[in-house]
Amino acid sequence: LLGTSEIKNNELYIGGVSVSDLKEKFGTPLYIIDQADLEDRMETFVTQFKSDQFETHISYASKAFTNLYMAGLCKKHGLHIDVVSGGELFVALEAGMDPAHIYFHGNNKTADEIEYALSAGVGTFVIDNIQELRWLNQLTKEMEKQTQALLRINPGIEASTHKYIQTTTNDSKFGISTDDEKIHDMIQSLIDAPQIDFRGFHCHVGSQVTDEKYFFQEAEAIVSFTSTISKRYDIDIKEINLGGGFGVQHTPESPSIDFESFLTRYIDVIEATLQKYKIKPEVISIEPGRSMINNSGYTLYSVGHVKHTLEGLPLIFVDGGMSDNPRPSLYEAEYHAYLANKMENQVSENYRVAGKLCESGDVLIQSIELPAAESGDLLIIPASGAYTYSMSSNYNLMPRPGVVFVKEGQVVEAVKRQSYQDLIVNQRHYSN
Ligand code: LLP
Repeated sequence: LLGTSEIKNNELYIGGVSVSDLKEKFGTPLYIIDQADLEDRMETFVTQFKSDQFETHISYASKAFTNLYMAGLCKKHGLHIDVVSGGELFVALEAGMDPAHIYFHGNNKTADEIEYALSAGVGTFVIDNIQELRWLNQLTKEMEKQTQALLRINPGIEASTHKYIQTTTNDSKFGISTDDEKIHDMIQSLIDAPQIDFRGFHCHVGSQVTDEKYFFQEAEAIVSFTSTISKRYDIDIKEINLGGGFGVQHTPESPSIDFESFLTRYIDVIEATLQKYKIKPEVISIEPGRSMINNSGYTLYSVGHVKHTLEGLPLIFVDGGMSDNPRPSLYEAEYHAYLANKMENQVSENYRVAGKLCESGDVLIQSIELPAAESGDLLIIPASGAYTYSMSSNYNLMPRPGVVFVKEGQVVEAVKRQSYQDLIVNQRHYSN
């Protein structure tokens, strides 16, 4: 869980920088990204998910964690990017991503967002529903724009994960079921739209999936569907996008995927499945979000009070909580922690780690063995880069923490911590 970080004089160093230095300069809570580790993973995806039979696109799902610096790194490593809102699109464009390398997702793209994406020259729309398709059809005509599209389908494979992050059930709000007859109206309209280049299908099996069999089943389902459609409509399917969802390890006990070997097996399965169904798409794309960023990200907190209640484990209070990481309270997600200034001390007892927000559910970790904790200690949660900063909020008017990227002893403050002034920037005073 500590990736490439090191321990020196009882203290944790990430990217060659001591966490106490980071606290000193940037305060806590603080999101810390081990940049070398992240760039290695980007390269692993690019080099391992490769085939001589088709082109591959690694489209980073920016919902997991994005900002100008992150999107800039995606560009540097030749990744494509998946955006789900005008906001994510804006950040990708501001960061200099080639618009042709952007996939625009979302189940309810607004007309404004579609217009924005068309004028920016976004490469591919991933179409969710019939109304969106009508709007895209109309707007491409009005604006005299061409675009590419994939249709998001639900082939009825549901990976085992928390029900809040399941996506392919028949009552899912995403995509269209392959058993739904209306899918044929959509395919026909896509084929008929002269300004839309209908390239193929997209599907996403769920998120935080650690059993790789689901990805293989999904590949089989989408390729078999593609083959049926390609025969029925006599069209060439040029692209299949298999989505993301690759699970990561959050705690020493939880299962994980070894990406290097998984990606090679995945490519083998995809090649074999394409041969079986005699389908030859030009491009196969995947959309890793969590698996790209999560295990390069750490959240650093300062310990305030340590409290013993009448019952239950003693509480370590940190200076953040569900405002910077809502995942434990939303999905009962489990995390691990270290006292970053007592890395070599003997563990002494089991604690709960709780935040400072006014919610009983604001508990980041229900039980963890740590060295004796006291006020002023630094508590760090590793493997917390995905869906934390991106899902953070200003609840209780907590300023959002900053984000630093560390590499070879250098620190870049990619996102500044919000100030109190930032909290009222769009507000006005009451006056009679
Ligand atoms: N592609 C599509 C179409 C998606 O819907 C998602 C995630 C991804 C790619 C990226 O999935 P990843 O590789 O990151 O698992 N907030 C939740 C996760 C929601 C994921 C939604 N879709 C969490 O914190 O667990």
